[in-house]
Amino acid sequence: MLSAIFPLLVLAFPTVTIASTLRQSLGNAALADILARGAPILGFDTGCSRSNKTCDWMRNYPDSTKLVHMNLPGTHDSATWNYTQATQDSLFRYTGTNIPPAAIFQCQDFSLFQMLNLGIRVFDLRFAYNPGNDTLGFHHSQALLAPTTTVEDVWFGLYSWLDQHPTEAILISLNYESGTGTPRDLKLEQHIYDIMTSKLASKYWVQANGTLGTLGQARGKLTFLQRYTYNFLPASESKRIGIQLPPNAWTDNSPSIEIVYNNAKQQKAFIEDYYEIGLPIGAGVAENVQWKFNATTAHLHNATTINPDQLYITFASSEHDEDVPPETPRVMALGNGTATPGVNQKLLPWLQARKGKRFGIIMLDFFEVVPGLVEAAIGL
Ligand SMILES: *[C@@H]1O[C@H](CO)[C@@H](O)[C@H](O)[C@H]1NC(C)=O
Ligand SMILES: *[C@@H]1O[C@H](CO)[C@@H](O)[C@H](O)[C@H]1NC(C)=O
Ligand SMILES: *[C@@H]1O[C@H](CO)[C@@H](O)[C@H](O)[C@H]1NC(C)=O
Ligand SMILES: *[C@@H]1O[C@H](CO)[C@@H](O)[C@H](O)[C@H]1NC(C)=O
Ligand SMILES: *[C@@H]1O[C@H](CO)[C@@H](O)[C@H](O)[C@H]1NC(C)=O
Ligand SMILES: *[C@@H]1O[C@H](CO)[C@@H](O)[C@H](O)[C@H]1NC(C)=O
Ligand SMILES: *[C@@H]1O[C@H](CO)[C@@H](O)[C@H](O)[C@H]1NC(C)=O
Repeated sequence: MLSAIFPLLVLAFPTVTIASTLRQSLGNAALADILARGAPILGFDTGCSRSNKTCDWMRNYPDSTKLVHMNLPGTHDSATWNYTQATQDSLFRYTGTNIPPAAIFQCQDFSLFQMLNLGIRVFDLRFAYNPGNDTLGFHHSQALLAPTTTVEDVWFGLYSWLDQHPTEAILISLNYESGTGTPRDLKLEQHIYDIMTSKLASKYWVQANGTLGTLGQARGKLTFLQRYTYNFLPASESKRIGIQLPPNAWTDNSPSIEIVYNNAKQQKAFIEDYYEIGLPIGAGVAENVQWKFNATTAHLHNATTINPDQLYITFASSEHDEDVPPETPRVMALGNGTATPGVNQKLLPWLQARKGKRFGIIMLDFFEVVPGLVEAAIGL
C-alpha cells in the first residue's frame, strides 16, 4: 500500500512547491507593477522605524474608541502632491494649455505613503475618467493628476500599506470631480461601484452601511466617506458601505454644514469647508489668512465643546485665487514669508493649547511644512 502511493507523493511535492513559488513570484511582480503605476499618487513607501511616533500612532488607542471621538489628521486634495508646473506642462497634450497655473491646484508636497507614515489618516480624493474615458483616475478640477494611474492601483497600494500597519485605520473621502471635461455616465458609475463591491474590497473596506464604528472595527481597513451619488446606476445595485455625504447636502464654500448621514440613529456630520475666501481684491495675505483661521477655529471650538458623539470635519485649507496677487493654497496655508504666517502656523499653538480635546477630522494643506502640526492635531 504505502509503496504504491509513495512515488505519487514524491512526484506531487515538487510540483506543488514550484506552483506556489511561481504564484508568489507572480504576486510579487504584479504588486510591484501596480505600485509603479500608482507611484504618481502613492509615491514610494520608504518605511518607518519604531521610533517614529506617527507611523503606527493608532496602536496606542483601545479598540473600543469610537471613530467620532478620535482626532484624525487628514489632507485636502491629497493626490495633488506632484502637480508642479513641470507636471502640468507635461500633461498639456491632455488638458490643453488654457489651464490656470499649477500653483492654483497643488495642495500638498508629500505623497500618500509619506503622509501615512507621518500620521495622516484621512484622504480627500476626487475621481473622474482618465484620458480615453476607460479607466478611473484622479483630478483636482481641470487638473488631471496622473493619466496612467487608476483608482484600483491606489486602493491596492493602500491595502499593501495596511498589511504592514494592521493597527492603523484609513478614511477615504471620495468625490466625483466635475469640470474635468470628461464624461459622466453609467459606465463610470458601474466601474466605481464594482471597485467598491469587489471581493477584495469586502476584505479591506469596513462593510458597515450608514454608520461609523470603533477603531477596533476599522483597523487594517479603509472606511468610506462617499461624497458622490449614483445617478445612473440601477437601484438593484444598492450595496453601500461607509457613510454618505452627498454633494446636494454639502453646501458649497460654507463655514458650517450639517449633514444627517443616518436618520434612524440621528448621526450627523458637522463640516467647515469655507475654502474660497471672499474678501475684496487687494485685501492681502494677512487678512485672508485671518478670515480662514477664524472660520477654522470657530468650527474646531465647537468640536471641542459640543456634540461629543457626532462627526466633526474641519477644513483648514483654502485659497483666494482671484485676489491680486493671488493667495494660492500654499500662501493660505503657509503665509508669505516669516512676517506673514499662514493658517498652519497659527493653528499649531491653538491646537497645542487644547491638547487632549476632541478636534475630530482636520483636513490640511502642506501639513509637513509646520513641524509638529500633525502631532498637535492628533494630540500626541
Ligand atoms: C513627478 O513629476 C515629475 C514631472 O514633473 C515626474 O518626472 C516624476 O516622475 C513624478 N513623480 C512620480 C513619483 O510620479
Ligand atoms: C523617522 O525618524 C527618522 C529619525 O528621526 C527621520 O529621519 C525619518 O524621516 C522618520 N520617518 C518618518 C516616515 O517619519
Ligand atoms: C472622452 O469624452 C470626451 C467628452 O465627452 C470626448 O470629447 C472624447 O472624445 C472622449 N474620448 C474618447 C477617447 O472617447
Ligand atoms: C444603507 O443605509 C442607507 C441609510 O443610511 C439606506 O438608505 C440604504 O438602504 C442602506 N443600504 C443597504 C444595502 O443596506
Ligand atoms: C477673527 O476673530 C477674532 C476673535 O473672535 C475677531 O476679533 C476678529 O475680528 C476676527 N477677524 C476676522 C478677520 O474675521
Ligand atoms: C457652533 O455651534 C453653535 C451652537 O450650536 C452654532 O450656533 C454655530 O453656528 C456653530 N459654529 C460653526 C462654525 O459651526
Ligand atoms: C508675497 O511676497 C512677495 C515678496 O514680497 C511678493 O512679491 C508677492 O506678491 C507676495 N504674495 C502675495 C500673495 O501677497
